[in-house]
Amino acid sequence: MDSYLVYGNPIAQSKSPFIHQMFAQQCQQNIEYDKRCSTENEFTDEVHRFIANGGKGANVTAPFKEQAMQLSDELSVRAKAAGAVNTLSFSNNIIFGDNTDGVGLVNDLIDNNITLTGKSILLMGAGGAARGVIQPLLEQNPQQLIIVNRTLEKAKQLISHFNDERLSAISFEQTANINVDVIINATSASLSAKLPPLSVSAISPSTVCYDMVYGKELTPFLVWCADNNASKVIDGLGMLVGQAAESFYQWRGVRPDPKPVLLALREMLDKS
Ligand code: ATR
Repeated sequence: MDSYLVYGNPIAQSKSPFIHQMFAQQCQQNIEYDKRCSTENEFTDEVHRFIANGGKGANVTAPFKEQAMQLSDELSVRAKAAGAVNTLSFSNNIIFGDNTDGVGLVNDLIDNNITLTGKSILLMGAGGAARGVIQPLLEQNPQQLIIVNRTLEKAKQLISHFNDERLSAISFEQTANINVDVIINATSASLSAKLPPLSVSAISPSTVCYDMVYGKELTPFLVWCADNNASKVIDGLGMLVGQAAESFYQWRGVRPDPKPVLLALREMLDKS
């Protein structure tokens, strides 16, 4: 049986084993998928040990995504653009690093009937989560992709990695002067139940608001957006399933349907 793992720290909360086991059942793939808590010092050795024991691939979550990029022999274009790896594939003595986070987000937006082509998108945050989704968002041909960050300099630095005139960097104060179609929260603010200092002017009744964070309840950001008449608010549970579906496809060559898995996870969250 082919073995897969997800590495992270913490990892106890990870839904990846549940998601991949459901995908495997759905696609009739005979795999095992486990989770492993690692440390900065041990991560690389642990991956090599897993390969030596016949491991076929691994997902990587915080805080090991940059280290996973370093240990990869080859990288996909999107992993290079993201500066981070969340999916490792092991074959023919090669460690191949990919990043499926951005495509997971884009596919979830598409599944929610949101078109990005020709749209103005505001991406909040300039850390790893934001960087991971920029290239896949640009591939949808938006009219513009504005990056807003508390530390403006970091947003400017981030867009300098991408040579694309549709990208711009602004401060939160400047969000008073914009009006966008889609707002994506890639800051870590929701993890500590904080609200990014976004101007309410950025939202109109046709604006869709997305938070990469998910939970039993809507995040404070999504509650705030709904209170300010956003057309739709969506949390990051679908992105989680979407990135997993793309990893599964990388490994197994079959594309699972994320919808039943998303429904099952939502039900689990509601009952928790
Ligand atoms: P990640 O890997 O999840 O992106 P990160 O690299 O630590 O984590 O980045 C966190 C991002 O969230 C940063 O863009 C940070 O803004 P600063 O660069 O100004 O620190 C942003 N962030 C965190 N808390 C925030 C808050 N309360 N309001 C707005 N932005 C916040």
